[in-house]
Amino acid sequence: MRQTPAPIKVQPSRTVRSLAEDVLDGLFEPPRHLPPKYFYDAHGSRLFDAICQTPEYYPTRTEMALLSRHAAEIVQLAGPTVIVELGSGSGAKASLLIGACAAQDRQVCYAPFDVCADVLTESGLALQREFPWLNVAPLVGDFTAGLEHFPLPAGRRLLMCLGGTIGNFTEGDARDFLSEVCALMHEDDYLLLGADRVKSPALLHAAYNDRRGVTAQFNLNVLSVLNAELGADFDLANFEHRACYNEAAQRIEMYLDSVVDQLVGFPELGRTLELQAGESILTEISRKFSDESLQALLHGAGLRVARHFESSPPLFSLVLATRAGN
Ligand code: SAH
Ligand code: AVI
Repeated sequence: MRQTPAPIKVQPSRTVRSLAEDVLDGLFEPPRHLPPKYFYDAHGSRLFDAICQTPEYYPTRTEMALLSRHAAEIVQLAGPTVIVELGSGSGAKASLLIGACAAQDRQVCYAPFDVCADVLTESGLALQREFPWLNVAPLVGDFTAGLEHFPLPAGRRLLMCLGGTIGNFTEGDARDFLSEVCALMHEDDYLLLGADRVKSPALLHAAYNDRRGVTAQFNLNVLSVLNAELGADFDLANFEHRACYNEAAQRIEMYLDSVVDQLVGFPELGRTLELQAGESILTEISRKFSDESLQALLHGAGLRVARHFESSPPLFSLVLATRAGN
């Protein structure tokens, strides 16, 4: 079995705010908000995997079923020598594509890119146990910090952004991010994009408010990250998870609500955060796409749809795209 090397750091191509700057900018004035990337420390990544196992969270099993059904066709069409996954997490979905490559006697290497170094180590180990021949070249960094210095391996590339992660960007940021991905692509490269679809608000509400409270733990974990990284003194018992579907904006909004009047110390920043009972912090948006808004997003980013696989009923979409003008 090969050994996964330590992740290579992807250098940002533009300055992004540090955690302290994001906190100062986002938490101290309403509307209070935090970027979702801070969910994913080692514990947060495990909690995300636990969300994927809940009966209510349909995106993972729906996308896995689509991948199982269409992996052979995707691999045949894209013919990758390299699979690059942006926001790779557990790598469970990549495993289906790598398996399809193996079934077609196609040697590939896998370059997972994630903000969480621990998840890269764990996914590398799991994939190399499953595919002892596989060369895994992990990359760690922030995909919101620009992709100009992204060390894209040579060869014929299949880039992937799965799980509906594109929905965690605002509309403009999603277009900019996909444009940056498109700028990386050569003529014969493909992008496989997983996007969650607009559907019944009840189904969406259940998926983000699972009965066992795993999503609540995931949401609250961001406060533990601020405690660990910035020496803040959030008491998690003073907050409640809330996720609701904003039908007009076609997005889930996930909040942490303060349940008491409270003061939270940030000694390292020399600041104290004052929250009233009922005040909220927006911790994540998760946009849901119609067929039209998905096509418009891809088109706006300079991509052309080669194949669109959707579940029946259309809960989730997988789009295989190339650079427009190919
Ligand atoms: N693609 C996987 C994981 C989705 S969860 C799946 O479909 O199951 C989102 C993943 O993106 C997490 O692994 C998280 O650590 C990563 N991520 C979130 N924000 C990121 C950022 N700004 N830069 C790089 N990775 C990020
Ligand atoms: C990673 N991302 C696509 C998930 C989503 O559904 O937006 C994150 C998540 N948040 C709560 N549950 C899952």
